[in-house]
Amino acid sequence: MKKIRIGTVGLGRLGRRHAENIAFRLPSAELTAVCSIIPAEVDAVQQEWGIPYGYNDFAEMLKNQDLDAISICSSSTEHCRQIAQALEAGFHVFSEKPLGIGMEEVLSARQIVEKYPGQIFQLGFMRRFDPSYVYAKRKIEAGYIGKPVLIRCYGIDPVSAIDGAIAFAAKSGGLFLDMAIHDFDLSRWLLAAEAKSVYAVGACFEYKEFAKYGDVDNGAAMLQFQNGAMGLFYAGRMCAHGYHVETEVIGTRGSLRIGTVPYKNLVTLANENGVTNECVGGFLERFETAYLNEMEHFVNCILTDKKPGVGVIDGVQSTAMAYAATESFHTGKVVYLD
Ligand code: NAI
Repeated sequence: MKKIRIGTVGLGRLGRRHAENIAFRLPSAELTAVCSIIPAEVDAVQQEWGIPYGYNDFAEMLKNQDLDAISICSSSTEHCRQIAQALEAGFHVFSEKPLGIGMEEVLSARQIVEKYPGQIFQLGFMRRFDPSYVYAKRKIEAGYIGKPVLIRCYGIDPVSAIDGAIAFAAKSGGLFLDMAIHDFDLSRWLLAAEAKSVYAVGACFEYKEFAKYGDVDNGAAMLQFQNGAMGLFYAGRMCAHGYHVETEVIGTRGSLRIGTVPYKNLVTLANENGVTNECVGGFLERFETAYLNEMEHFVNCILTDKKPGVGVIDGVQSTAMAYAATESFHTGKVVYLD
């Protein structure tokens, strides 16, 4: 059986998980090379997992003729440049979200991806590969809730991860680009519609550190879509009970909700303090299956020469929504998308 040989860049919180999935959980893939600007990360993975090639310089990894594809899990500021370099070097490319952190760079990334139609490009909007979201999408398409008229999305990171979020703030692109972008992408996918206008608000309610980057710890946005549907979005960094990702779609004949309570599992605990259901603690736990499914999809698309379900246009459109939301937050005005 042919195996797709992948080189991955970025071995941080998420990059290491993707690397592990490629190395051990995908029979049609092989983790052939790893790269990070932090030498200790590369050494650890090479030694622990026996990976043949390790690099601290991305351009060096791209010279490796034993590779078929590159997986980009570096900081968001690096994505567009590395996507271009990897495509130009002839590789198939998977890139984590966001596509980029500026409209100009995401538009040029789109041009580059379109210049190489023979190479697979997939963007890491993994929620589209989560079994519950896939099920919800099928129900909507089957007409179960009628015509969708409103989507409500909550994305709240655990407050236990606040130190990392603050450390990452300079390179995240801000709350709407870093966090709400998942929900912006989901809304386009679930409603099958593009955004028309957005009004956003937000503030640093507790963690003033974000203000230094023009960012907030809690933000909300209201959108209208080109087909008239409505969207309510809330993103925050201070969830006390865990990692809370919740979505509701209201239609003309019904509604559906995904993740209303972010249960950890089916266990209900009881003791002298009462009855409790524990919650998922973070993205790696909640979307464990989705991260694996999306990488499997990428590998299968390469093997069968099929266009992935999430592409560069999804990166461009979601970034435009996040940018418009950020601009609205800064100006206090409704922003209209092209
Ligand atoms: P992190 O800060 O933990 O790790 C970043 C990694 O990239 C480190 O290994 C660092 O050494 C490496 N790196 C940075 N610049 C590099 C360069 N020029 N060359 C080589 N290596 C470089 O970051 P984290 O949390 O793993 O996030 C990585 C990306 O994944 C971000 O773009 C983030 O938005 C995205 N992400 C996506 C999530 C999702 O649910 N789809 C969840 C978390 C992160």
